Amino acid sequence: MGHRTMRLRKRPKSREEAPRARPGGAPIIELRDVTKVYPGGHLALERVSLAIDRGEFVFLVGPTGCGKSTLIKLLIRELDPTEGAVQIAGRDIGVLAEKKIPQLRRNIGTVFQDFKLLPNRNVYDNVAYALQVIGASRAEIRRQVPETLRLVGLSTKLHNYPDQLSGGEQQRVSIARAFVNHPPLLLADEPSGNLDPVTSIGIMQLLYRINQTGTTVVVVTHDREMVDKMRRRVIELYEGRVVRDEAGGGYTEESTNEFGMRMRAEMGVGVEGHTNGS
Ligand SMILES: Nc1ncnc2c1ncn2[C@@H]1O[C@H](COP(=O)(O)OP(=O)(O)OP(=O)(O)O)[C@@H](O)[C@H]1O
Ligand SMILES: [Mg+2]
Repeated sequence: MGHRTMRLRKRPKSREEAPRARPGGAPIIELRDVTKVYPGGHLALERVSLAIDRGEFVFLVGPTGCGKSTLIKLLIRELDPTEGAVQIAGRDIGVLAEKKIPQLRRNIGTVFQDFKLLPNRNVYDNVAYALQVIGASRAEIRRQVPETLRLVGLSTKLHNYPDQLSGGEQQRVSIARAFVNHPPLLLADEPSGNLDPVTSIGIMQLLYRINQTGTTVVVVTHDREMVDKMRRRVIELYEGRVVRDEAGGGYTEESTNEFGMRMRAEMGVGVEGHTNGS
């Protein structure tokens, strides 16, 4: 995989940091007593503490307004906590200088419900753009983009523009874009929020496949059925507090295809190709 130097664990230590007891062993995400009060006084998160280890697949669930997206935004420093600390790979991101924030975000792929694709670029160029902006070489782009589009099952749609793709395909492009530089962490905020059940399974299957490459995946979803069936760790928020944190317990040896087949069977949807709509 390219871009090894961008991995968090390879970055040089900065002076502010205390030495770590377990180098490389720190959780990839750690929140310590994090409270977020929005301007105007709304308490969105209240003393949230949690840790997510490298390689985990975690669902973040809870009713609308409970603070899920707020939590995601804190992880990429789109927001700062009012109190408490957010650590990524053992580093307090609250002390990062402004100019270091892009580097943090390069290490964290993000996927949103509304895809956020560039309408005037085709599939290939949407994904290539993510590498261009971080200064990847042309050789690297030529290698990584087709490989990633193969991974997400879009090899036949390289020249399509976003408006020539189904919703599920557009989400696959946005996942390819988030993953093309192989970040150690991928955050997805309701990635299947607008998609039908079969397409949603395809998207989860893809996130599962990405997780199997070693990337930590955190998925916000309202899809209770999916969460129950997948048997991964579930962190539930309610009114800004963690009210449940349950280990997954199962199916760790499952291949991506086995996963897809089991999901479709358990959720009572028909057998489809492993890539939706292609
Ligand atoms: N910029 C903001 N200013 C003030 N209040 C905000 C802001 N953003 C979110 N909130 C409030 O904070 C609370 C948590 O919002 P958040 O977006 O994190 O919820 P959520 O769990 O992602 O909900 P949903 O499932 O609907 O996406 C909500 O009550 C929301 O109205
Ligand atoms: Mg949200």
